Amino acid sequence: MKKIALCNQKGGVGKTASAINIAVGLSLAEKNVLLIDIDPQANATSGCGIDYRTLSHSIYNCLFEPHTAKEAVIKTKWPRLAVLPSTPDLAGAEIELVETEERERHLAKILKIVDPEYDYVIIDCPPSLGILTLNALVASDSVIIPIQCEYYALEGLEKLLKTVKAIKQSLNPHLIIEGILLTMYDARLNLAKDVVEDIQKHFPNVVFKTVIPRSVRIAESPSYGKSVIHYQISSSGAQAYLNVTREIINHA
Ligand SMILES: Nc1ncnc2c1ncn2[C@@H]1O[C@H](COP(=O)(O)OP(=O)(O)O)[C@@H](O)[C@H]1O
Ligand SMILES: [Mg+2]
Repeated sequence: MKKIALCNQKGGVGKTASAINIAVGLSLAEKNVLLIDIDPQANATSGCGIDYRTLSHSIYNCLFEPHTAKEAVIKTKWPRLAVLPSTPDLAGAEIELVETEERERHLAKILKIVDPEYDYVIIDCPPSLGILTLNALVASDSVIIPIQCEYYALEGLEKLLKTVKAIKQSLNPHLIIEGILLTMYDARLNLAKDVVEDIQKHFPNVVFKTVIPRSVRIAESPSYGKSVIHYQISSSGAQAYLNVTREIINHA
């Protein structure tokens, strides 16, 4: 079981779009996948067509009672793809978890209990470096850092890399960077090209070869409760996410 967190404390960089589409890409490659939504915004949950208002169990309960994890996992209508959903209640957990024992290890405990048949666990993090993201980084083998191809792209990256390093030195010595994923690339903008070149120069060997284009289809697909791969497989966005999936499988 390989566990990968999608992490960047900036919002709107493509964490959730990437988590959903990588999870779906892996499932299409005949991998058993569990997508974990650990963001109170629950965008990965709704993006998979799950209405959080109908849920009696979610990641929120599981963090406090890891033994209930199996009850909270939802099989989707797509083969080999299950979701451990989130709800807005999870916002309270940032504070409530502070007082708990081993507060950074709750998600790691959940992953010891879920079905060992999963080949991949993909974790969609909230836009912060709070306790929920720490739980994700402690529970993961690697982290994918989505970065938007724009002027302030590198803002915050240093802090995130420092956090990953600190966790590696203390709570999770196995944690590695799976890759930096460049997202929302607009080929018409010179600036976007400069950002891509800049990041590839700064972080050779760490950046995924595939760059995710800015794509209306990617932006539309969540409102249909599906990945862009299921929504329109021929689109450039879907093809890009299938290529990233291939890179991830080749890393293993
Ligand atoms: N490659 C893309 N092209 C166009 N829109 C995108 C792309 N990736 C994500 N989006 C849209 O941009 C917004 C932010 O993306 P999201 O994945 O939710 O970011 P995050 O999870 O980092 O906050 C969402 O409305 C999403 O649908
Ligand atoms: Mg998100």
